[in-house]
Amino acid sequence: MAAAQPGKRRLALVGLGHRGVGMWGRELVADYHPWIELVGLCDSNPLRRERAPATIGIEVPVYAGLGEMLRDTRPDTVIVCVPDDLHDEAIVQALEAGADVITEKPMAVTAAQCRRILDAERRTGRRVDVAFNYRYTPTFAKVKELLLSGAIGELQSVDFHWYLDVQHGADYFRRWHARRDRSGSLFVHKASHHFDLLNWFVQARPAEVFARGELRRYGRRGPFRGQRCRGCEHAARCEFHLDIGQDPWLHGLYEEASRHDGYLRDACVFREEIDIPDTMSACLRYESGVQVSYSLNTYMPIEGYQLALNGLHGRIEVRQHERHPWPQPPADEIHVLPNRGTATRIWVPHGPRGHFGGDAGLQDRLFKPATPDSLGQRAGAEAGAWAALCGVAAMRSVESGRSEPVALGTETD
Ligand SMILES: NC(=O)c1ccc[n+]([C@@H]2O[C@H](COP(=O)([O-])OP(=O)(O)OC[C@H]3O[C@@H](n4cnc5c(N)ncnc54)[C@H](O)[C@@H]3O)[C@@H](O)[C@H]2O)c1
Repeated sequence: MAAAQPGKRRLALVGLGHRGVGMWGRELVADYHPWIELVGLCDSNPLRRERAPATIGIEVPVYAGLGEMLRDTRPDTVIVCVPDDLHDEAIVQALEAGADVITEKPMAVTAAQCRRILDAERRTGRRVDVAFNYRYTPTFAKVKELLLSGAIGELQSVDFHWYLDVQHGADYFRRWHARRDRSGSLFVHKASHHFDLLNWFVQARPAEVFARGELRRYGRRGPFRGQRCRGCEHAARCEFHLDIGQDPWLHGLYEEASRHDGYLRDACVFREEIDIPDTMSACLRYESGVQVSYSLNTYMPIEGYQLALNGLHGRIEVRQHERHPWPQPPADEIHVLPNRGTATRIWVPHGPRGHFGGDAGLQDRLFKPATPDSLGQRAGAEAGAWAALCGVAAMRSVESGRSEPVALGTETD
């Protein structure tokens, strides 16, 4: 074990893919080095292991197994950045080794995994933070502030519609995300961000969900298919063709490394094995009576969302387009519309770095000492569980055709 730097929080990172070496590696070391020290890196892929220290810009031991890294480096906190279905195992192992955990979302993909994490947190007395970076995006923080200030009176209902464009949306269908056993479906993987925002805005437990979800554009719906984009005979006529050779970042991180584990970054979006919906909608009811109408689409000409929160005395509207065919404003526009009186328009400037400032806000909160939390943005394992459970219940509803309870369940589930 290397000598500790006094006063610095000792972090170890498991999962050295795009999110791991990017936001939790390179950006963390560059911007937070006065408060943190990365003491170990872990990944199952030998080439990603070999390349990660240089990509991140540090010299640090690398490990193939989490257990060995925990024993050798004795970190204060483990950052979990492996695929979603592996989060629970890594989180519990780290907690049991006496470390706190920061896990990427979704915290887990099943109710049983959520229970296991909550039990381990209680048993060990350590803490799990869930990386719900969208809570820190300035526009969502402003919405929360407006709700807390009583701008529209008691919240009654929410309309929330999220659009992934053909570029970003298709990306989820190229990799492990497209398998329900690995991601829980996009109702869990992607929508856990949105369900968390809803849970945070509504400030009540989600009670039940009725959902629809179908595969309409990708997977078996495709007109043809191959194994992957590289070398595909359909490349010239496929609108989703990805030339990984043209992207040095993806090529360096995944293409050459794929010979070790077969993990293809450009797998065919029309693969037969894809078993998650690409077109989803859900109605949620909260214990407080608040109702939500939600949807998620993955093959749109725009990227972004439309959000409206309806209170007894007014409405807040936000339309945010991350990408669209007209000029992009450098700020988001929020309308606050009282039922009576004058409407106001608020421009919220985007923050620095990823997710319009969400990533930086989350890392400030987690690593800069004495950062205030007046909006309650810090999200723990309970919040992680309830966000994931909304998606789990939504998928159950898709299958049953009935409304399903949002519940942590019991050992017998
Ligand atoms: N909060 C956000 O906005 C946000 C954005 C992107 C990704 N994420 C989350 O970050 C996580 C990682 O996403 P990604 O896009 O980097 O995925 P990825 O597939 O690119 O990377 C995952 C890495 O984990 C490694 N791995 C797999 N099994 C392992 C094991 N048993 N032990 C050690 N390493 C193992 C893989 O080799 C790979 O390097 C996911 O949970 C994802 O949901 C969150």
